[in-house]
Amino acid sequence: MNVPNPSYHAPVLLRECLDAMQLSTGGVFVDVTFGGGGHSAHILSEMAANGHLYSFDQDDDAEKNAQQAPFAGHAGFHFVKANFRYLKRMLRSEGVRPGTVKAILADLGVSSYQLDTPERGFSYRFDAALDMRMNTTDGDSAADVLNTYSAERLQEVFGTLGEVRNARTLALACVSARGIIPFQTTGDLVRLCEKHVFGERWRYLSQVFQALRMEVNDELGALSDFMSQSHEMLAPGGRMVVITYHSIEDRVVKNHLKTGNAEGTVDKDFFGNITRPWTLVNKKPTEPTDAEIKINGRARSAKLRVAEKNIVNESA
Ligand SMILES: C[S@@+](CC[C@H](N)C(=O)[O-])C[C@H]1O[C@@H](n2cnc3c(N)ncnc32)[C@H](O)[C@@H]1O
Repeated sequence: MNVPNPSYHAPVLLRECLDAMQLSTGGVFVDVTFGGGGHSAHILSEMAANGHLYSFDQDDDAEKNAQQAPFAGHAGFHFVKANFRYLKRMLRSEGVRPGTVKAILADLGVSSYQLDTPERGFSYRFDAALDMRMNTTDGDSAADVLNTYSAERLQEVFGTLGEVRNARTLALACVSARGIIPFQTTGDLVRLCEKHVFGERWRYLSQVFQALRMEVNDELGALSDFMSQSHEMLAPGGRMVVITYHSIEDRVVKNHLKTGNAEGTVDKDFFGNITRPWTLVNKKPTEPTDAEIKINGRARSAKLRVAEKNIVNESA
């Protein structure tokens, strides 16, 4: 199956995702992270003739991919330019009722294209404007975050979202550096980080950039909203298919699938029975084979979790 721009992004765990979505049943399917359309294109080609695919992305460049073949003019395809945290509202406005969707796919994070395009500011490998917004028309950039947050808030961002071990030292260094010259470019941040590297340089920079990206795009907030709304939108027995790329987002998905909330807090019904909104299809997450990782190094940290929406709450 051809996609408009094959170098945009190589879809990860493709066969595993398509199988997990049970596409032959027909009905409504959703891919909330369209990107280069790799997963979506294959969903379209394997979906039953009476199937319909809604694909979301908040990125303008992803939207351009959706305006080309095989998506443009395909009767069973609809692109939704929106943050997936508005899943329920957007699907309802398309006439999709809660409790009717057959499967939802989320391939979290950013695409190779976003990472490899210097002016998007996602990568420490290039010197460019410090932006990092997936939706470049909305919200604060990474430079805004670094130039305006208090030292305590920056410490929280680096420590919680990047697991940066010297988060307090780095946060204080950011506050003092911006007092001389405000942050503008990825290079400004890299040069500051170089003075405080803790452990391996590449790992440290990845952690710092990941933390800022997650803050700028409120990735954990969006993920949690999306997980709750997905449960409402899916039909009983409908499939949730999620690929995560690091332990922080994976924990949110794992907790949601276990308990229905991001914190993993167990809920009980009136009779004291534990509420279980999902049944796990794979008890342990599926990981890419060595062969896939060899072809696509970015698949290395991927974990695929699949669960079915429970019809009624089960007892413990
Ligand atoms: C890993 S890429 C997906 C690649 C895609 N599966 C493919 O095969 O080309 C993640 C995509 O999700 C989008 N994205 C991430 N978070 C989002 C959100 N909260 N709402 C909408 N789109 C989001 C990004 O803009 C990016 O294009």
